[in-house]
Amino acid sequence: MQAQLSSLLARASAELDAIRSRPELEAAKARYVGPKGDLTAAMKQMGGVAKEERPALGRLVNETKARLQELLDASLRRIEEAELAARIGPAIDPTLPSPDAGPGAYHPLTLVQEELCRILRKVGFSVADGPEVETEFYCFDALNTPPDHPARDPQDTFYFPVSARFGNVSRHRPDERYLLRTHTSSVQVRTMMKGSPPIRIVSPGRVYRRDTADASHSANFHQIECLYVDRGVTVRDLKALLDHLFAALLGPGTKTRFRPHYFGYTEPSFEVDLSATHLPRVNKEWIEIGGCGMVDPEVFASVGYDPHVWTGYAFGMGLERLAMTLYGIDDIRAFYQNDLRFLRQFAGLV
Ligand code: DAH
Repeated sequence: MQAQLSSLLARASAELDAIRSRPELEAAKARYVGPKGDLTAAMKQMGGVAKEERPALGRLVNETKARLQELLDASLRRIEEAELAARIGPAIDPTLPSPDAGPGAYHPLTLVQEELCRILRKVGFSVADGPEVETEFYCFDALNTPPDHPARDPQDTFYFPVSARFGNVSRHRPDERYLLRTHTSSVQVRTMMKGSPPIRIVSPGRVYRRDTADASHSANFHQIECLYVDRGVTVRDLKALLDHLFAALLGPGTKTRFRPHYFGYTEPSFEVDLSATHLPRVNKEWIEIGGCGMVDPEVFASVGYDPHVWTGYAFGMGLERLAMTLYGIDDIRAFYQNDLRFLRQFAGLV
């Protein structure tokens, strides 16, 4: 029986060493220590052993059992290590060049925004900022768009609950509701109320609308707003600035035209179209790009400027559409998907 036990151990040791998978290990376990296994069979023979030999043999069986367990445990550890190594993959070589994308680059919207601000700074505008959470007064009321005005309908959108508070967004009246701004025109009001004329500001930023996303709409997008207030400002000044701005951005072949329109905060008001057929992938003669006009005397009155003294122009336009025209992008959603294949095409266009 002693010989039987030691040959069993020798067999188990050789076999368990070679085992590489859990099913193999389970089978070996059953074969050695399971109810029908070799060790159990050996223990069953104890009954036929002489009484005085039993204690020594019992000890030997226990030792064999413990040793078998150690061999099984060691085999399981080897399998676990192999599984972990397989999950981690091959060792890395830190001396190889990195497969990462490398330094980042500007987003196409940032490129266009920065370029527009650069062009406008050169002709005397400074960049003004305003909050994306706005109040009704700055977004609508002060812009001569009262609550019951139909022009407010399409922009009457993302309101916060009455109980919402934004400590860093000042309200004009204590009971005013907050909303996500629908246009950057609110910055006109904040700027005029903070300072005094003459004023020449450009304000880029994100705006929010109740639009359903498709190739040319997104519920949030970007605008760029300009305001010029001084004595004796005329529509000619406005047209000259827009002509200059678009030609500087899109090339000297660019043309602009005004179409009469309605905005509560300008009088007269126009929609601005631009023509840039020299650009590749532009297949339309006129592209609608924004709105503009001469600041309405009502707006001056609501910010406390004397409408008999001050005149001005304002315009606002969508940044996405301008970037799409410039770069030949045909789907607005490409700006927000963060697909590196798209973004990489703009790397280096600083
Ligand atoms: N706020 C307008 C819009 O979002 C665009 C606009 C029109 C801005 C006329 C202006 C303006 O400053 O004078 O559609």
